[in-house]
Amino acid sequence: MAIYTRDSIERLRDTVDVVELVGARTDLRRVGGNWMGLCPFHDERTPSFSVSAEKKVFYCFGCGESGDAIKFVEATEGLDFPAAVEMLADRYGVELRREHEDPRAEERRRRRERLRALVERATAFYERYLGEAAEAAAAREYLAGRGLREDVLREFRIGFSPPAWDRVATAAGRDGYRPEELAAAGLAQRGRGGGLVDRFRGRIMFPLADPRGRVLGFGARSLTEAERPKYLNTSENELYHKGRQLFGIDRARAVAAKRGRIVAVEGYTDVLALHQGGMTESVAIMGTALTQEQLAELSRAAGTVYLALDADRSGQEAMLRAARGARERDVELLVAEMPEGSDPAELVTREGAEAFERLLEGALSVPEFEARRLVASADLRTPHGRDRAMTAARPLVESVPANSATRDEVVRFLADKLSVDPSFLTTQLREQPVRAPAHARPNGDSSGVSAVDSRAAGAPASLDAASRKERTFLAMCLAERTHGREYLERLDDDHFSSDAMRAVRDHLVSHFEDPLSDLPADDPMLVALVTEVAMRGQEEQTSPEALRLTFLELELQRLERELRHATRENDFGRQRDLWPVREGVKAQIHELMGQTQ
Ligand code: UTP
Ligand code: MN
Repeated sequence: MAIYTRDSIERLRDTVDVVELVGARTDLRRVGGNWMGLCPFHDERTPSFSVSAEKKVFYCFGCGESGDAIKFVEATEGLDFPAAVEMLADRYGVELRREHEDPRAEERRRRRERLRALVERATAFYERYLGEAAEAAAAREYLAGRGLREDVLREFRIGFSPPAWDRVATAAGRDGYRPEELAAAGLAQRGRGGGLVDRFRGRIMFPLADPRGRVLGFGARSLTEAERPKYLNTSENELYHKGRQLFGIDRARAVAAKRGRIVAVEGYTDVLALHQGGMTESVAIMGTALTQEQLAELSRAAGTVYLALDADRSGQEAMLRAARGARERDVELLVAEMPEGSDPAELVTREGAEAFERLLEGALSVPEFEARRLVASADLRTPHGRDRAMTAARPLVESVPANSATRDEVVRFLADKLSVDPSFLTTQLREQPVRAPAHARPNGDSSGVSAVDSRAAGAPASLDAASRKERTFLAMCLAERTHGREYLERLDDDHFSSDAMRAVRDHLVSHFEDPLSDLPADDPMLVALVTEVAMRGQEEQTSPEALRLTFLELELQRLERELRHATRENDFGRQRDLWPVREGVKAQIHELMGQTQ
């Protein structure tokens, strides 16, 4: 339902300076009547992204992403349509008019706005207090002692609450906020003497913001072991719902959308340390229990979700319970386990972000991870112990779709460890219906609807960078008539991340001259993908160098996949073999880029 009038939206579109807006994300150069730059939606080395100041739209020749200023903000900031409209209106000073609103809804909205303003005031106050107050010296030292830089603290608006009883309540009261409002916003409550008492006193304040960066509540850490609880949080209220919250989501969303992945860790400090180390697609679930709401939010942000779990088993149990729900979602969920006794913050501070990245490279799918946990906790020395493990293993196998590569791996792994024939694990199972893997669904960009649209429609985002590159390459093969066919035939099954894309390749090989002929009526996904590739093949501007570059990029993706697999399997020999090959491909890419720029 439209909340803002069509007229205001049009006025907004007219006012926004789209070149300036996009220019803040990527450098633009004037080329003829348009502006060109590197595409913010996919990785590229030569500019194929164009912006028209006159038409107020953008279009990428590389990945096909296109739209107006509002769409640009939706995609780069990970916001929905109304949020993007509000952000732009704010920034360009356009007054938005609402469609007729029922008075009760209007009242609720005004109240929420007022409570948010109150929490925002408190955030700014705590922030300033940490920076300036003599009383906050210990907090500043503590944070510095943990290796956190000031710029990161500022970015996350970390603060400190005064130890006094009622500084926030008193100041807000002077500015006309009622005690009831302070309580509703979770900032103060009535003390025994009847006066208002601040909820947060003498603690380091971690603001909890929504995806648009509006602070809704706080996590507050005590400075000493003696002071309990270690973290005091805003309790559930009109604005703040713990189950929905991801700490850092406002800072992480745009990067996550671009990189196609988001990393979820347990703690606040983990997120700060990871951002400091450059892994800015990280958020915290704030404790061990991952909720379905958080999972939904994570899968909206990116197609691949990494869970980096601390190595204690109680926490993992809770995480995995929620993670099982992810199988019903259109998202790839991978689990990485932290080394015993350290959390991401310690790991990154001690060994750098690369150490954490390596850990992610070894991440496992949820069933594979569970299979390893199962084996680790089983008594494998006796037949009895193995029988018990078998009893636990069967439901696990059952939960993985039959005829999937994951099922295959899980069964092979378990059979091997439990020393039984694989058929023991696969006979008489209650089979689940087979589901297409995330990247092979005919939604999102394959049907010409962008990932952003599918997100707005409530479907999960599938900004699948791998398959996008595959499609681009296929389109280029069609466009570059002299070498395209040769390259097409050089592509192995391993170059593709899904059967759906392999089928497209097969079709193009046998119908190179006329890709749109002989399309099977009973395979809508193949039809959609071939159509997309063929259409783009007609527009694609390409050269033999560009073709070779993209081929090398696919080759790199293939090697990365194989390396991930080898890492998972602890196959060190294979890893050693693959590393130099990968470096060789990278070197070729660099060399070629030098020529094409
Ligand atoms: P941790 O105890 O691992 O805290 O809890 P941490 O983030 O590593 O904190 P430091 O490094 O000791 O400062 C992980 C997360 O669980 C939530 C917080 O979000 C915390 O970051 N938590 C923990 C609470 O909400 N309340 C608590 O009492 C403890
Ligand atoms: Mn921790």
